[in-house]
This record gives sequence, structure tokens and C-alpha cells, in this order.
Amino acid sequence: MATSPGAFIAFEGGEGAGKSTQERLLAEHLTAAGHEVVRTREPGGTPAAEAVRNIVLSPQFTGLDARSEALLFAASRGEHVARVIRPALERGAVVVCDRYLDSSVAYQGYGRGLGAERIRGLSLWATNNLLPNLTIVLDIDPLIGLKRITNPDRLEAEPIEYHVRVRAAFLEIAGADPHRYLVVDANLPKGEIAAEITKRVGLLFQVPR
Ligand code: TYD
Repeated sequence: MATSPGAFIAFEGGEGAGKSTQERLLAEHLTAAGHEVVRTREPGGTPAAEAVRNIVLSPQFTGLDARSEALLFAASRGEHVARVIRPALERGAVVVCDRYLDSSVAYQGYGRGLGAERIRGLSLWATNNLLPNLTIVLDIDPLIGLKRITNPDRLEAEPIEYHVRVRAAFLEIAGADPHRYLVVDANLPKGEIAAEITKRVGLLFQVPR
């Protein structure tokens, strides 16, 4: 867990859940409240990690070996944490990240059937054990979410059963640790979702972690 004075907040969820919008709204809210906010995303966040992103998301690499895919996501995460996230937390910033370790657990661990514990362990090793203080899961039925996608990347192009497994995984992960997770129904109006999120994030800054 982040033990530094900053705070690490991750957004997770299936395709088309509106993560990017909510991530932006939260970042704006926290900036207005006087925090230094670092907005970032995975896979990516540094030049090397963005290069890995181009490989893992490109439909050119359809059929990429599942273990190789898991290692690439973990490698990009390790670089992202070392160069961007940890330094930001150490200087007291709030990091708001679009996807993090639980995406690997859900998409590679459950979706590809590689095993949740193994994939989680891999990312913990890659990041020297950095976990968010709070993870916000935007929950959406994949049948609805995928309809919002216009240009599917390699993962988005997976069959519906894959996305159903991913959704169930996020709910299971979040349900096991309610203190560190907030699940929000992504079908609610944008403003209501944002209000739930800011309320919960507010608690993060009030109570000792
Ligand atoms: P992105 O374009 O960032 O989409 P989204 O707006 O859905 O976040 O694509 C990221 C894709 O990569 C998404 O399909 C989820 C997948 N992914 C993994 O499979 N494992 C991971 O560890 C991460 C971070 C993402």
C-alpha cells in the first residue's frame, strides 16, 4: 500500500464504463480542492510503457501468447510505478490512474485463466508492492459497455464470455475488500457517479490510513 503522504486512487472497470470521464472529473475536483494531482493511465504512462501499450493493444498481435501478454502488462506497470507513480506519491501528490493492477488480475488472471494470485503476485513484484489506497470500480454489463466502443483494440475484440468473466472478477475483487474498493453502477447519470466518488474519496483524506 502507498504509505507516503500522497494518495493513490485507481479506476477500474470493463469496456465502455466511462472511466476516463470519471477519472477526469475526480482529478478536476481534487485540483480545485488544492491537491497536486497526477493523472495517468495503464498500460502506459512513460515512453517505454507507452511503447509496450502499442504492442499489447494492437490488433496486429492477435493471438499473442497469454503469459507473454501478462508479462508485458506487468513490465509496463513496473516502469510506470518506478518513474511516475512512486515519485509523485513521495512528493505528496494524489495520483489518479485509469486502470492498474486489478486490470491484470481481471483480464489476464480471470479472463485468460492464468490465475488471480499468480498475476497479482507478478504485478506486486514488478511494482515493489505498490497498491492503491482506493480503487473505484465502475460496473457495467459488458453487453451495454461494448456497444459504446467504436474502434475495438485487441482486448476489446475478445468474445463476450471473456468480458463477462472480467466483470465478475472486478466485482469479486472489490467485494473481498470493501475498505479499499468502491463499486459504482456505471449506468447511473454521470453527475451521480461523480458525487458518489467524491464523497468516498473525501473520506480518504479525513481518516488516518
Ligand atoms: P484502453 O484503451 O486504455 O481502454 P479503456 O478505456 O477500456 O481503459 O485499453 C486498455 C485495455 O487493456 C483494456 O481492454 C484492458 C486491457 N488491460 C489488460 O488486459 N490488462 C492490464 O493490466 C491493463 C492495465 C489493461
